[in-house]
Amino acid sequence: MKLLMLNGPNLNLLGMREPDVYGHDTLEGIVARATAHAEQLGIEIHCWQSNHEGALIDALHEARAWADGVIINPGALTHYSYALRDALASIALPTIEVHLSNIHAREAFRHTSVTAPVCQGQIVGLGWQGYLLAIEWFAAKAAAED
Ligand code: DQA
Repeated sequence: MKLLMLNGPNLNLLGMREPDVYGHDTLEGIVARATAHAEQLGIEIHCWQSNHEGALIDALHEARAWADGVIINPGALTHYSYALRDALASIALPTIEVHLSNIHAREAFRHTSVTAPVCQGQIVGLGWQGYLLAIEWFAAKAAAED
């Protein structure tokens, strides 16, 4: 099984960005943990971050050719990017949306996700562990399909 783990705008600043909300871990640290966890579960994971909506959409289109699933934290694009939502719907790969913070307990504009309805599920508020739980869901899914 091969997964694409995509992180959107401003997530490159994790560790220094509002640590009271997002924690002290850097994206590099989270990616290292996710990669090790996936490896243990026999999953190949490719992790990538971009601050650009179009670049994220291109990565999703490319994933159609090689990935079995997607884990995505679209950052603020979650709340308004119909283009990203359409890309997720178009590629039709099973997708888990992850947010470090509990978006439902924050400002009203964060309560809406335009991308979640085209995802299999959404994990919020569990910090970096959310990415690992998403990987575990894919591992269980692969085992069930065997
Ligand atoms: C976030 C939540 C979004 O509302 C915010 O814009 C982010 C990070 C999260 O992981 O909690 O950039 O996606």
